[in-house]
Amino acid sequence: MDTAIRATGLGKRYGEHHALRGVDLEVAAGTVLGLLGPNGAGKTTTVRLLATLLEPDQGRAEVAGFDVVRQQRQVRRRIGLAGQYAAVDGLLTGRENLELLGRLLHLGRKGARARAAELLTRFELEGAAEKPAQTYSGGMRRRLDLAAALIGRPEVLFLDEPTTGLDPASRLVLWEMVREQVAQGVTVLLTTQYLEEADFLADRILVIDTGQVIAEGTPDELKRKVGEEWLEVGVSTDAALPQALAVLAPVAAAQPEVDRTGRRITVQLADGIGTIAAAAVALESAGVPVTDFALRRPSLDDVFFHLTGRGTQVGRAPEEGAQPLAQGPEGEAERDEKAEKAAPGEKAGRTENGEKAEREPVAAATARTGDEQ
Ligand SMILES: Nc1ncnc2c1ncn2[C@@H]1O[C@H](COP(=O)(O)OP(=O)(O)OP(=O)(O)O)[C@@H](O)[C@H]1O
Ligand SMILES: [Mg+2]
Repeated sequence: MDTAIRATGLGKRYGEHHALRGVDLEVAAGTVLGLLGPNGAGKTTTVRLLATLLEPDQGRAEVAGFDVVRQQRQVRRRIGLAGQYAAVDGLLTGRENLELLGRLLHLGRKGARARAAELLTRFELEGAAEKPAQTYSGGMRRRLDLAAALIGRPEVLFLDEPTTGLDPASRLVLWEMVREQVAQGVTVLLTTQYLEEADFLADRILVIDTGQVIAEGTPDELKRKVGEEWLEVGVSTDAALPQALAVLAPVAAAQPEVDRTGRRITVQLADGIGTIAAAAVALESAGVPVTDFALRRPSLDDVFFHLTGRGTQVGRAPEEGAQPLAQGPEGEAERDEKAEKAAPGEKAGRTENGEKAEREPVAAATARTGDEQ
C-alpha cells in the first residue's frame, strides 16, 4: 500500500522548549490517522510541520511523496489544512471565502465559482452562502473550514481538532463529512483531544504526550491493552456485598474488585458480553438489592490514563464508555451529578492548572487493573 505521510525522527524546538522530540509516523494512503494527546502534546506542531508551515529542527517527512522542506510547493499543491483556529475571513461571505481560495489555488474564475458552489451544497451552507462568515455558528464555521480545506481537491487532508467546541449533533455531521472524503480516497491526519473521535474516525491512532509518541495502534489494539469489558454492580446494603460477590464469582475472569464504601463490585467478565444476562438473572433470583448494573467497555480515555497515569486533561466528548443496562435511584443520582460535572465539554473537570479534577470511576477501575500491559 502507498504511504501518503511518512515522518521519521521529527523534532521541533521553540527556543529552549522541545515541542516535538523525535516523532515517527506513517499513514497509508486512503486511511485516517488520529493524533491524540492532551494540550501541549505537540499535535498542532506536528500538523504544521507536515503542512510545510514550520520547518523541523530534526528528522524529515514526506507528504504525498514529496519532502516537506525541499519540495514545499509540491506538498502544498496536494494538501488541504483545516487549522485549529478558523482561517476563513469573517468579513467575507461563505461563498466569497471559497471562491477566493479557489482563485488562489489557480482554479480560474469559473473553476473557483463552480467548486465553491459544489462545496457549499455539499456542506449544507447554501442558505448562508451570502452571509459574512463571522455571523456563522461554530458548527457552520467548522463546515466552512472543511470546505475551504477541500477546495483544491487535496490528496492529503490535515484537520487540527476539527470538532472542538461543537455540540454532539454538529460533531456527527462533521464526522460523516470526513468519512465521505476518506471513502473518496483522501488520506486524513486529524488531531483530537476527543477519544471517541479518534475511535470513530481513525484507522490507526498515535498517542503523543510531551512531544513523544507513547502508543500506537488501531483503536481496538489500544483498548485491548486495558482489558476487556467489565461489569459494575452497585448494591444498597453492606450485607448484600458478599451475597453479590458469591453470585458473580462464576462469571468473573479474575478476582472481583470490591469497593466497600461505594458498595460496588467490579468484575472482569469471563465470557465478555455473553455472561451479562446470566449475571443479571443470578442476581435477581438470589434477591440481591441491586442499585446499579452497568457494562463498562474500556474507552480510549482509559487507554490514555493507562499509558500516562493521568487523564486527557479535558472533559470528555458527550459519549462515554459506560453503557448502563439498568439503574436504581441511587445510581441515577450519582450519574446526574457526574453528568453535571462533565457537561460543558472542554470546561468540565478541569482545574485552574489544567489537571483533570475528577476521574471517572471507569478510569479508577482501570488504574486498579492497570499494570498488566
Ligand atoms: N510558537 C510557539 N512558541 C513557543 N512555544 C510554542 C509555540 N507553539 C507551541 N509551543 C509549545 O509547544 C508545545 C506543543 O504545542 P502544540 O501547539 O503543538 O500542542 P497541541 O498538542 O496542539 O496542544 P493543544 O491541544 O493545546 O492544541 C506546547 O508546550 C506549546 O506551549
Ligand atoms: Mg493544537
